Amino acid sequence: MALLEMPQKEKTKEKKTAFTDISELPNVGPATAEKLKEIGFSTIEALATATVAELEAAGIGEKRASELIEMARSSIEIAWVTAKELAALKSSVKHLTTSSRALDNLLGGGIETQAITEFFGEFGSGKSQICHQLAVNVQLPLDRGGLEGAALYIDTENTFRIERIEQMARHLNLDFERVADNIIYAEAYNSDHQVLLLEKADRIIKEHNVKLVIIDSLTSHFRSEYIGREMLAERQQKLNKHMHRLLRLARAFNLAAVVTNQVMARPDEFFSLNAVSPVGGHIVGHTSHMRIFIRKTAGKNVRIVRLVSSPHLPEGEVLVKITENGIEDVEEAEIRSR
Ligand SMILES: Nc1ncnc2c1ncn2[C@@H]1O[C@H](COP(=O)(O)OP(=O)(O)O)[C@@H](O)[C@H]1O
Ligand SMILES: [Mg+2]
Repeated sequence: MALLEMPQKEKTKEKKTAFTDISELPNVGPATAEKLKEIGFSTIEALATATVAELEAAGIGEKRASELIEMARSSIEIAWVTAKELAALKSSVKHLTTSSRALDNLLGGGIETQAITEFFGEFGSGKSQICHQLAVNVQLPLDRGGLEGAALYIDTENTFRIERIEQMARHLNLDFERVADNIIYAEAYNSDHQVLLLEKADRIIKEHNVKLVIIDSLTSHFRSEYIGREMLAERQQKLNKHMHRLLRLARAFNLAAVVTNQVMARPDEFFSLNAVSPVGGHIVGHTSHMRIFIRKTAGKNVRIVRLVSSPHLPEGEVLVKITENGIEDVEEAEIRSR
């Protein structure tokens, strides 16, 4: 089933009969199109990854729902693929530089597209700094480790600072005005709003060639709104759905998805995001979730960044530093003198 979610954008372009908008689908009138948009399926790509149950929830009958999904899927040729084609899809995974060579190497070349990368750590560990850096870096040309696209930035704690973007952009010799123009920002006021922002994101992603979606922080609203044991299941369920939505976007648009998660120092208090379980028949599980733990050191601007879990990379850790310029490598000499 996971194959059904693979990106097919490149193919779409070649196919003459492909629909580019849901209103073009046969027998989809304005009312149905509007209804689909309301529940977050405003593009063919999004509709192709919907489940019948999701469309049913919006008052669309079962038969009609499966017809619509089928049309969307065949339109972008999301279907069974051969192993050879699968290899080609896998090879379409791209990497986004973190500005630290050491960290990029740890991640097998940088932050992967088609997957969710989670940075977790204590307050002040540098999670938001990394988000700022990535929002700038995604705009770099491919040969400088970028993805030549825009960033979508969902901020839940009001910690986004345009001044930081300016510093980082200048350091990379990028035009600040242009960089700022390619960061599409929204502040999420509560968890419902956060979920909604992501559900409405596919049109913006398409229009602005978004190649990075950031949610900083993924969990803060959920944590403050769903308190106590009795709300845990509900919180987790809602969060899972949100994560799945994010993963679908990552796959449909071949983009990188980065989320942050603030945790206490004690490991047993970690707020678990590991429970990404199959929802709506789509198998995602651990196959698309990188977890990276970041922590402070005695050296004031040095951080230890540890790859804790990855579907295909070994664990390991590296040092990075946070400076005026952004995220940087720690030089050999600095490491030796520590
Ligand atoms: N302009 C800067 N120059 C150097 N270090 C900075 C700068 N801005 C922020 N930092 C570092 O980043 C830290 C804040 O990191 P942040 O990403 O906000 O943490 P988190 O999101 O994990 O809570 C600061 O304590 C400081 O060490
Ligand atoms: Mg932060």
